[in-house]
Amino acid sequence: MSSAVRRLRRSSLCLSMAPVAGLLALVWARLRPRRLPRRQQRPPPSRLPVRDPGTPVRHLCPWAVPSPDQPSPPAQRLPQSQFAWQYLLGCTNLIIGSNQGIVQAVGDRYVRIPPMPQATKPHLENLRKYSPGKPIEELRRELGVDRISKLASNENPIGPSPLALAAVRACLDDVHRYPDAAQYEVKSAICDVFGAAPENVVVGNGSDELIHYLGVAFLSPGDEVVVGSPSFIQYTAAAILNQADIKSVPLDPSERMDLEAMAAACSDRTRLVWVANPNNPTGTIVMREEFDRFLDSVPRTATVVLDEAYFDFARDEAIPDSLELVKAGRNIIGLRTLSKSYGLAGLRIGFAFLPPETADVIERMREPFNVNLLAQRAAAAALYDREHLENTLHHNRKSLERISRAVSSCGGKPTKSFANFVWAEFPFDTKPLFDALLRQGVIVRTGDIFGRPTCLRISAGTDDEMEHFEASLPKAVEMLNP
Ligand SMILES: Cc1ncc(COP(=O)(O)O)c(C=O)c1O
Repeated sequence: MSSAVRRLRRSSLCLSMAPVAGLLALVWARLRPRRLPRRQQRPPPSRLPVRDPGTPVRHLCPWAVPSPDQPSPPAQRLPQSQFAWQYLLGCTNLIIGSNQGIVQAVGDRYVRIPPMPQATKPHLENLRKYSPGKPIEELRRELGVDRISKLASNENPIGPSPLALAAVRACLDDVHRYPDAAQYEVKSAICDVFGAAPENVVVGNGSDELIHYLGVAFLSPGDEVVVGSPSFIQYTAAAILNQADIKSVPLDPSERMDLEAMAAACSDRTRLVWVANPNNPTGTIVMREEFDRFLDSVPRTATVVLDEAYFDFARDEAIPDSLELVKAGRNIIGLRTLSKSYGLAGLRIGFAFLPPETADVIERMREPFNVNLLAQRAAAAALYDREHLENTLHHNRKSLERISRAVSSCGGKPTKSFANFVWAEFPFDTKPLFDALLRQGVIVRTGDIFGRPTCLRISAGTDDEMEHFEASLPKAVEMLNP
């Protein structure tokens, strides 16, 4: 082979390698640490730089500089992973955000700038996080128990109406669409079933959402609300959120709302008075006549909210009916929910009966798509399922009797309940009893969250759950007094 041919072959090989070499050179150029003058070279990752309090970061990120009354935090090491990224990318002014602040490379230094506390309103510090019943899966993880009965959240043990389930299944293919902002179908069902006019009805994402809206609509800083104590915790949350003062009126000795005392507690600053009937957590009721007298004695400037979350369970009693009172032009708002007797707690749907002018305000305030598609369809169907409602009420009566009997036979004192749970007092602090029940897989509610540490609240369960409770309670009490 001639030398000319050999040279040609060598050069064509070189040419074919050129792109690969070029690519390698590019990767190296990107990944190699920048060659800074010796003085400025970055320390290797093992010697991580710390915040230098003297580093002038003001011009880079003025808002991150601690104010004079907010002293600079101590120097801190960079997380290794963040350093590695900086190092590999070789950037000099890269900012990396994390929940520990941001990291900024400045010349040969890395500075970690702590997060600025975001300026939420100071009064929100007074809000307590809602404490829900312990979830079944959490208990399973913690204790590894197989048989778990959750009797803690006043849910419907017989489940949702089959009509509601069918309605949900039928609209699953439509969930890429927004729900009906006018809530036509569900509102029509409410009006039809209860005999309400559409202008007297607002539908919410659970009655919790409506409680929130009422707080925003009625309360300004310095206003007052009157609540019974203990009662549903969200009334006070709505007051705190809107900087209103709370007047708590203790229940009477038979654990009922003390309406006379509540009326007496009202002042010209009172804007909302909350009456849960039946009351949560006690399950007690106030009667129609006494409620009428109460409405007459509350100042005209205060609106009474009658929360009827458990209305169906007490429907045979002579209790007030918010819709009748709204129709009669009384200064009242009624709240109902499909979370309890209708078994749709997981879908979040509740509604209010209220005067048209107030309904109009809430309609303008509410999120346009506050009630999701599945909830609207399920509610519209469930409201017509009278058989499911009757089965629920029948089952509930049996469960309440079983709970009360079990409590009495273990030395507790059950309060007569008109809801779907029993409030029981024991002659001792119930936290250890709650724990002993938990260890056997029974979840109830302790009274301490309602300010009554010697009480328990036990929700109605399925027959199997009731058996489990009946067997576990004596064992739990025995564990406390061996
Ligand atoms: C008295 C009372 N009102 C309102 C609610 C909230 O119900 P919803 O699930 O509709 O938000 C509850 C829930 O437990 C309650 O006990």
